[in-house]
Amino acid sequence: MAKKALIKHFSTVSSIVLLLSFVLPGIAFAALSDDDKKGIGLEVTKIYRAARGVIAKNQKLINDASKGDKGLSGDAVITGAKANYKKASGTDLVLADASTPKGQMQTAMINAVKQVMNQAQGLINEKGKGFKGFLPAIFAKQVADQFNKLTSGKAYIKLTAPKSYVRNRANRPDKWEHEVIEKQFKSSGYPKDKVHTANAKHKGKDAFRLILPEYYKKACLNCHGEPKGSKDITGGKKEGGKLGELGGAISFALYN
Ligand code: HEC
Repeated sequence: MAKKALIKHFSTVSSIVLLLSFVLPGIAFAALSDDDKKGIGLEVTKIYRAARGVIAKNQKLINDASKGDKGLSGDAVITGAKANYKKASGTDLVLADASTPKGQMQTAMINAVKQVMNQAQGLINEKGKGFKGFLPAIFAKQVADQFNKLTSGKAYIKLTAPKSYVRNRANRPDKWEHEVIEKQFKSSGYPKDKVHTANAKHKGKDAFRLILPEYYKKACLNCHGEPKGSKDITGGKKEGGKLGELGGAISFALYN
């Protein structure tokens, strides 16, 4: 090969390599089966819920005005989330290789949790302040926003609720979520905890979508229960929710 042709050859090869390094993650996602995508969605939502459970369990500690450092670093919350994950699923959280779609999504969720906790240290460690507004749902919203930033264009997660129960307008269900919640989750024969999946548009893009129902437990009713319209400790209005009633949903999307 002449010198000039050789250089041209190399620059073509390197631009193909460069191109592939951008395109490959997209190809990897598109090539997944619906079952694979469902598995990723279940995995990400499992880590998300496990981490939120750590905040719920430590609510008293977070609200303790007499204590400074609460010991709830990003790493500590991930350690707690791993324990909750194991309790919920019976298996350890095993990180898939970072080059795989599953590994990328697991890592993004873990990093989102860590970043939110690192950001929250000043607030939650403030001595002399009791209620800080750092609630499981607030944490969940922040983690979702962070996850969506980290996976921008590839995936999306959101904590939502039936339209009539939504407090934070940013958590309102979109049309697809609203219909699944009203027509499926709320129908009397719908199996408890059953995840619903579909290939549907999300924010105008083709996506694999997954949504799972969540129900009010006793502790939730301190804020979301009865009497409807009365004030909870956050100053918000109680929804009048009942034990076991559908109270929310976690929605996940993986773009094609
Ligand atoms: C200390 C009061 C409190 C408790 C206890 C509580 N929540 Fe909430 N919840 C709130 C507040 C306040 C918001 C609004 C968060 C925001 O502004 O982003 C909220 C938001 C939510 C949302 C998101 C949708 C929306 O309304 O914006 C869901 C879903 C939810 N809560 C479910 C639950 C469930 C399920 C439990 C029990 C496991 C629970 N909550 C316990 C106060 C509470």
